[in-house]
Amino acid sequence: MEKIQQLKQQAIDFIESAKQVEEVNQIRIEYLGKKGHVANLMNLMKELPNEEKPKLGAKVNELKQELTARIDEKMMILKQQAMLENLEKEKIDITLQGYQSTLGTIHPLTMITQEIEDLFLGMGYQVAEGPEIELDIYNFEKANTPKNHPARDMQDTFYINPEVLLRTHTTAIQMRELEKANGKLPIKLICPGKVYRRDDDDATHSHQFMQAEGLVVGKNITLSDLKGTLQYMANHLFGQGRTIRFRPSYFPFTEPSVEVDVSCHICNGQGCNVCKSTGFIEVLGAGMVHPNVLKANGFDPEVCSGFAFGIGLERVAMLKYGIDDIRNFYINDIRFLKMFHRFD
Ligand code: PHE
Repeated sequence: MEKIQQLKQQAIDFIESAKQVEEVNQIRIEYLGKKGHVANLMNLMKELPNEEKPKLGAKVNELKQELTARIDEKMMILKQQAMLENLEKEKIDITLQGYQSTLGTIHPLTMITQEIEDLFLGMGYQVAEGPEIELDIYNFEKANTPKNHPARDMQDTFYINPEVLLRTHTTAIQMRELEKANGKLPIKLICPGKVYRRDDDDATHSHQFMQAEGLVVGKNITLSDLKGTLQYMANHLFGQGRTIRFRPSYFPFTEPSVEVDVSCHICNGQGCNVCKSTGFIEVLGAGMVHPNVLKANGFDPEVCSGFAFGIGLERVAMLKYGIDDIRNFYINDIRFLKMFHRFD
């Protein structure tokens, strides 16, 4: 009995002074393990006279239960402590200054492209794209501009070889799409893309720029459909209350052809230095698709008709955002690019 009491006190002291989960585990093995002190006591029982066995047995069991309970409790306390310590260690100081990551901005030409695409998608058009390195046949021949046609001079061209060139206008995409349609009507397309012309770069000219061209072919398409469509686009791009006017012009792929002016969004048509005191700004070329173009692409001009227009995107962006040098779009000056945020 004395030994039991001693063992118990000893174990309790160890348990109480233990500071680590591992220590308590060790104590559990030493006292409650198969070869531990409690097991040894049990073995001792064999040597006792029978009448003493139950009394001792009960005492040993009591000891076992008490030590188990104390060890479990201590374990729980230590584990909880360890967890709290870990939490403390892992705590993040959210008041610390973080790393700043700046959001990029959208290039003004991308903004205009998307704006025009959205506008025309809303009217049931589809967006079409094509290669920038183009065949002469799509850039010129199918657009009613055969070799040696004087109108080729209107667009000074970078040739790669006599049949391959850098496209001078996105009309080339339209010719590809007309061919692809294989006589099926209607066609409603908006074709944005980069184009190239041999030009000396200055504040208003660039050897590379962007266009978006529109093309509609169907039954009974008229010049007034073109006018309504362009009026809608002008209001969207330059604000409500804009008026447009058509001036006769010439393109080999349209007949009649027009140059389209929009009333000045700066002075509202009163005359200012942006519109050079005319009240109007020239923004695009357009016309009714030439019967030869329809024929060259497998459509019967007696059955269908169409309109087309082409707009320079740099010019729209320059007018809209008051940019005075076209080279700003290409030199990637971060201060310029940062001015264009799109909030949508
Ligand atoms: N392709 C012409 C240009 O680049 C623009 C245009 C397109 C004119 C469609 C009429 C019809 O100048």
